[in-house]
Amino acid sequence: MAEPGAAGSEELVLNFLAEAGDEVVSGEAISDKLGLTRAAVWKHVEALRGQGYRIDAVASRGYRLVAVPDRLRALELRPLLNTHDLGQTLHCHDELGSTNDEARDLADAGAEHGEVVVTERQTGGRGRRGRSWVSPPGRNVAFSVVLRPEALPPIRAPELALVAAVAVCDALRHAGVDAGIKWPNDVLVGGRKIAGILTELSAETDRVHWVVVGVGVNVNARPEDFPPELRGEATSLLIERGEAAPRALFLAACLTSLEDWYDRHAEGGLAPVLQAWRERSVTLGRQVSVRTDEGELTGTAVDLDADGALLVETAAGVRRIHSGDVALLRPR
Ligand code: BTN
Repeated sequence: MAEPGAAGSEELVLNFLAEAGDEVVSGEAISDKLGLTRAAVWKHVEALRGQGYRIDAVASRGYRLVAVPDRLRALELRPLLNTHDLGQTLHCHDELGSTNDEARDLADAGAEHGEVVVTERQTGGRGRRGRSWVSPPGRNVAFSVVLRPEALPPIRAPELALVAAVAVCDALRHAGVDAGIKWPNDVLVGGRKIAGILTELSAETDRVHWVVVGVGVNVNARPEDFPPELRGEATSLLIERGEAAPRALFLAACLTSLEDWYDRHAEGGLAPVLQAWRERSVTLGRQVSVRTDEGELTGTAVDLDADGALLVETAAGVRRIHSGDVALLRPR
């Protein structure tokens, strides 16, 4: 019987077991379906066990996948993806400076729409407005997606930051926490930051070359993993839920949600995204202080404009904020 390469077959066996969920699948079924000998199936199961997969052998019935290692590699991620574009090509690393930098380089070199860069550890993670993004290795999720919007003029590219905020907020809600969005795209739980998004663009006057959306989510960070000055301001899924989350599953859910909202935006424009953003907002109706390049202002965040700008009612009238840092003042 002809056999595909060992690594490819291993992944096929894993996919087969993953798709069966809690069910036991017989060695014979795997061997028939994948065109492998029974000995080859056994060899791949052993190899997967060696990599940390728990696969139970159920006497005279077959195999059952019981647990997957908490790693962000193609082998763990691929069986969990149900996207059409996002993550179909995965670049998985143990360590990188910044996934955004890597995604930008790949995009400049011709990477396709939907390619994803993910790493276990960033040594130079970047945040918005020149800040850094620090995250303990192996506990959280840091990834960047290359997007090539077909009909989006460069002036509308910032809309994708709102698209990403809604998508990440939904993935977190799906994971069981009451997440909300602080303008433009911080995701908070109980007033503390759980996720940040950095969107970068390459364009000429009338055409977007690429947009890179970089997402950092505190998944399994413990309080002691945050620097002391951030402990009151940052949280994680683990802290909020009291139990660790499987990171590969969470990353797959983020990509599904991002693709879903990207498609809605491509089809329906910004209006449905703005509506969803408002429904998830923890900013609107709040007293805010906003730091912009032109200075600081305080007032009430009243709404988003049709282009996503934040409208703040100040003593001097309503101001439109296109870019800046918002601090929420006074608890509700
Ligand atoms: C912010 O809140 O300021 C944005 C933080 C964005 C962090 C993510 S982690 C993955 C990607 N790579 C980076 O260097 N930054 C983004």
